[in-house]
Amino acid sequence: MARKYEMTQAIYDYAVNHSLKEPYLTVELRDETFATERAARMVSSPEQMQFISMLLKILNPKKCLEIGVFTGYSTLWMAMAIAEDSKIIACEYNGRYEDFARKYWKKAGVEHKVDLRIAKAHDTLDQLINEGAAATFDFIYIDADKLGYKDYLEKCHTLLRTGGLMIFDNVFLFGEVIKDEHVNDVLPTAMKDFNKQLHQDERFDISMLPLGDGMTLAYKK
Ligand SMILES: C[S@@+](CC[C@H](N)C(=O)[O-])C[C@H]1O[C@@H](n2cnc3c(N)ncnc32)[C@H](O)[C@@H]1O
Repeated sequence: MARKYEMTQAIYDYAVNHSLKEPYLTVELRDETFATERAARMVSSPEQMQFISMLLKILNPKKCLEIGVFTGYSTLWMAMAIAEDSKIIACEYNGRYEDFARKYWKKAGVEHKVDLRIAKAHDTLDQLINEGAAATFDFIYIDADKLGYKDYLEKCHTLLRTGGLMIFDNVFLFGEVIKDEHVNDVLPTAMKDFNKQLHQDERFDISMLPLGDGMTLAYKK
């Protein structure tokens, strides 16, 4: 497909440098994550979260779901963007990050909007479905175990209302999805399969964006 320019790191940096206005608390949280966590590169990029934050302000979702919280960076952006009476059910199975994340949610005055569930997200989603929450969520952000994306797609399709939006992060898998050979095939193969499957899924309108490590927006028809 023809482009009017080559998407280089320089043009990507230009876009970020001419658009990013990151709140000081998310900067602080991200800096502390990078200073203290070995897996810090798991945090979503600020330009991605700024985009999601704008979408949330436009969509005004009442019920959000997040899968994969880590130190609470994406949750903080989302909680700051939604209305006072809106809620995020945030799924994370590693309880070690809870105090870190809560410290920042509290500092930002948004802790009351976050309902953190420390458990395997697959189980939390089953529980929500069993409790009758099908078709009640307006927005879902998925950024956890990549091998679980196919399962999340089905469970989140059940939980999302018609007209709701879900976003899958890391769909480029750090560039591995365009390679033919990999040091280890498991994750790249799973992500390639997932991207192919979602592309062919007639239940959604989708858009795959080259922001951060790539993210796909899926609108439930
Ligand atoms: C990429 S990080 C999330 C980053 C976060 N969204 C952000 O932008 O800062 C993925 C997180 O998902 C969690 N996770 C992985 N598999 C999970 C599962 N099955 N259930 C719940 N959490 C899971 C990991 O512990 C990790 O904290």
